[in-house]
Amino acid sequence: MTTILKLGGSVVTKKDNRETVDDEALSRATSAIADAGVDDLVVVHGGGSFGHPNAADRDVSSDSGTHDTASIRAIHRAMGRLVRRVTDDLGAAAVPAVPVRPFSAGYRTGEGDVELYTDSVETMLEEGFVPVLHGDVFPTEKRGATIVSGDELVVALAKDLDAERVGLCSTVPGVLDDDGDVVPRIEQYSDVAAVLGGSDSTDVTGGMAAKVRALLDAEVPASIFGLGDLEEFLAGGGAGTLVGPAP
Ligand code: IPE
Repeated sequence: MTTILKLGGSVVTKKDNRETVDDEALSRATSAIADAGVDDLVVVHGGGSFGHPNAADRDVSSDSGTHDTASIRAIHRAMGRLVRRVTDDLGAAAVPAVPVRPFSAGYRTGEGDVELYTDSVETMLEEGFVPVLHGDVFPTEKRGATIVSGDELVVALAKDLDAERVGLCSTVPGVLDDDGDVVPRIEQYSDVAAVLGGSDSTDVTGGMAAKVRALLDAEVPASIFGLGDLEEFLAGGGAGTLVGPAP
């Protein structure tokens, strides 16, 4: 049974301090992963204060690409510093973590789809490793290189590896309703359009709306939860908001 866990960039880094790891949060996440000892686990982490400022400085986003190799190297290197820290900490906690660098493991098509070479990830899982991927700069047809988010990688991995469990660990305890309570289940976007905003068109509310839409479009059932529920999720329990079509 394959489990995919994304650690949000704003969970493991300090959003307002450039290239600064949130030591306490990373250590909590690392201990939870080590203690749970989940088989067939793939970890993906976001860019946080390593990826986003380096990409923004160079005007690179998931839409806007670059052919400037110095920019590509700078963004990839910044993410390299973060994945090194994450894998080193996991390794120190006896989790057999190994880095997988997305820039060299796939590409975005001209239509915007993410193609990821997952055979090597499957071999890593068979060999008992915990592959760790991350949001990255990504080769892109006709646009040079764009940014691939950790969430997009999670969707691609979940499909290719036929993952049974997908969790997105975020800075909030789930999708919140107007009263600030966690919505336990979202089966279609209209369930939460009132709180996340918008109809089915452009995403104006950013992060959470885009996340929910992507998960529903991909038909990948996934839980969105906060760091406090990570143990619960890894233990197989329901945590936060479950996004996905009715079974
Ligand atoms: C962004 O990845 C990666 C880069 C900017 C290079 P994500 O979009 O998954 O990062 P977070 O989780 O929002 O920080």
